[in-house]
Amino acid sequence: MIKIAVLVSGGGTNLQAILDKEKQGLLNGEVSLIVASKDNIYAIERAKKADKKYVVICKKDYESKEKYEEALLDILNSENIDLIVLAGYLNILSEDFIKKYPERIINIHPSLIPSFCGDGMYGLKVHEAALNYGVKLSGATVHYVNEVTDGGKIILQKAIEVKEDDSPESLQKRIMENCEWIILPEAINIVCEKIRKEKQDV
Ligand code: GRF
Repeated sequence: MIKIAVLVSGGGTNLQAILDKEKQGLLNGEVSLIVASKDNIYAIERAKKADKKYVVICKKDYESKEKYEEALLDILNSENIDLIVLAGYLNILSEDFIKKYPERIINIHPSLIPSFCGDGMYGLKVHEAALNYGVKLSGATVHYVNEVTDGGKIILQKAIEVKEDDSPESLQKRIMENCEWIILPEAINIVCEKIRKEKQDV
């Protein structure tokens, strides 16, 4: 079984979409660990309800980014994690960290990359930018994580139409429901299959 860690910072609706697929027997891997970047986020409740192992690793509890990433690496290594899924995880991982998991870290972003992405583009800001630009289509992208924020190779994208009367909030909601919750588990399955084949070939 491919072992998956899901890293979260918020409500965890994308985490829930993954857990639901796993429960239905439709995930090509196993969610072995959930890492929360802070206490008191609803994603932790979802982990508990699904009876999943979770840890809270707060960057501010460590004297440096290096020490915080060491703690993160330790737990990922001790659980033998094959695939790291960033599902609304707001900490940016260092290049050193990312290099340890080549094509083993994926992220979901709520726009059609390369539009409305990169440093500082998260949450409602993404949808505000899309509406200000006047795009008629937006959506979500799952991509590999490399050293460029939102810059890694794209795995899956899904688009929806932007409506005349959309607000950032309404657009965010439709993109989550119609794009993110669908393509994130699909992309996980694609990458798990790839990892499984690579393991077989060794
Ligand atoms: C999603 O919009 C995701 O695309 C972005 O952060 C949000 C997380 O939402 N990266 P949730 O915590 O999964 O509900």
